[in-house]
Amino acid sequence: MPSLSEAFKGHPVYLHNSLLDFNSTRAVPDSHAWAPLNDYPSGDSLNVGTVPVIDLTDCHVLNHVGHACETWGVFQIINHGIPMRLLYEVESQSRRLFMLPTQQKLKAAREPEGIAGYGLARISSFFSKLMWSEGFTIVGSPAEHARKLWPHDYQQFGDIMEEYEKEMKKVARRLMCMLLAYLGITKEEVKWAGSKLEFKNMSAALQLNSYPACPDPKRAMGLAEHTDSPLLTILYQSNISGLQVLRDGWVTVPPLPGALVVNVGDLLHVLSNGRFRSALHRAVVNHTHHRLSVAYLWGPPAHIRLSPFSKLVTADRPPLYRSVTWNEYLGIKAKCFNMALSSILLHPPLKQQFEIDDHNTKCEG
Ligand code: OGA
Ligand code: NI
Repeated sequence: MPSLSEAFKGHPVYLHNSLLDFNSTRAVPDSHAWAPLNDYPSGDSLNVGTVPVIDLTDCHVLNHVGHACETWGVFQIINHGIPMRLLYEVESQSRRLFMLPTQQKLKAAREPEGIAGYGLARISSFFSKLMWSEGFTIVGSPAEHARKLWPHDYQQFGDIMEEYEKEMKKVARRLMCMLLAYLGITKEEVKWAGSKLEFKNMSAALQLNSYPACPDPKRAMGLAEHTDSPLLTILYQSNISGLQVLRDGWVTVPPLPGALVVNVGDLLHVLSNGRFRSALHRAVVNHTHHRLSVAYLWGPPAHIRLSPFSKLVTADRPPLYRSVTWNEYLGIKAKCFNMALSSILLHPPLKQQFEIDDHNTKCEG
């Protein structure tokens, strides 16, 4: 999505001094030491429910996904049609990438104001402590990224990631069509999606996350709490838990073999006029196990202006958000982070009335 490359101008994230060799670190250094997590998962299940697991071949699937988006904003899908083989290949290629020596990974380092490449989580700039993770963001051709890491052996990584992106694109479209049907939105209301809801020219990215084992996981944070910006995120996680979503407390989204986690993003929250919730989530780290995840971020074409569907706007429920493009919204997010959604609220006083889950109230400056 080259047209999105402007979004982070003025919001750089520097790698300098902040790279830690996680594998040889025996204690959490001050730079990475967060206030102790008193809610680190202990294995006891808290009485706050479990994230829905939805079988995509279930005949009531439409209601299940719609309801999950209204209540949790996150759910797991099974029987989605992505072969297990491909999931394992993606995991093993990601592992291969993160196992490279730091100097090698830095050959594909993300520019401070860029989107793609190797680096710290972009949200790092909002926190005084660093996170216990590394990321690699793929935008455009995966082989081009891989060429920087393995100049003579990039084909395999490229082919697998490309195949995965193709499959993800299909699942994302399928989910979106279900959600539109659930909301009663016809294709006339989403002209940008094409006459057959093809969803061409969408802006997608693949975010690989690596969470090394950590000597003191209660004092570290893998990925601090945030919501995802696009329409939908589809996440594969390796067989180690760490992803948590905020409900009445933090609820772990347990890894299930072959399942994928789907998240409502901020832009779908806006389109649905707040009916679907963009869920706050985070990733905690593990004492003994290295954890990997691969997130497919699926957003609209960069310059399409999105506003709440008019069908979901009524006298009782006026439009909650002003219109934005994906490009604009990424810029707002880069500046306001978890206050981005509330910063585009049209009627701040309505916030409480609708219990809008936007976590903060105002973005200054
Ligand atoms: C993300 C994310 C969670 C995880 O990449 O946006 O929330 O479990 N990842 O890695
Ligand atoms: Ni996320």
